Amino acid sequence: MVEDLCFHLFDLVQNSVAAGARVIRVEMRESRANDTLELEVADDGRGMDRPTLLKVQDPFFTSKSFKKVGLGIPLLKATTEACCGDFAIASRPGRGTRVRASMQKSHLDCPPLGDLEGTLLSLLASLEAVDLRFSYRSESGAFAVSSAESRAHAGDLPLSHPDVYRFLRDFIRAGLGELLAPAP
Ligand SMILES: Nc1ncnc2c1ncn2[C@@H]1O[C@H](COP(=O)(O)OP(=O)(O)OP(=O)(O)O)[C@@H](O)[C@H]1O
Ligand SMILES: [Mg+2]
Repeated sequence: MVEDLCFHLFDLVQNSVAAGARVIRVEMRESRANDTLELEVADDGRGMDRPTLLKVQDPFFTSKSFKKVGLGIPLLKATTEACCGDFAIASRPGRGTRVRASMQKSHLDCPPLGDLEGTLLSLLASLEAVDLRFSYRSESGAFAVSSAESRAHAGDLPLSHPDVYRFLRDFIRAGLGELLAPAP
């Protein structure tokens, strides 16, 4: 089992980047009432045909030539199965891919969320050619951040510039802080 859910988030985004995506939408939806957490990553990358789509759920398939196995998707599927959730992947060649995973939050085998602030920051600052659009929704409210909007605020500076990075960090920390606070 993986250490935390941010591992899965990071892997899915890297898969989208490897598929040449320009826009990557990451949505997280938490419901305290239903005890669920959903993670959805959708991209406009090169997509997969049906045989490939079936193969990627098998841990011995990867399109990376330097590796013998691809583990990201099979591990995510295993995580959802271990905590009474659902896994779905849909893809169309030339159009893009959407992966959706849900988990029962209180399940003993549900991994912790991990460092969402740090994961988002490192993705936003490193993916210069991509528009990453992240949102988190729960009964307590919603938070969204995107590379395109952040770049518009940053002007000529890259998102990895220390001043911009600090601003983004504070923005994400403030936005996620209340949403991720434990229930009273
Ligand atoms: N978003 C996507 N768009 C197009 N192809 C994808 C996408 N996600 C996964 N794939 C295909 O599925 C394969 C398996 O993905 P998976 O994340 O399981 O392993 P990997 O990325 O190859 O290796 P690892 O995640 O272990 O570093 C990829 O090599 C790629 O061919
Ligand atoms: Mg991967």
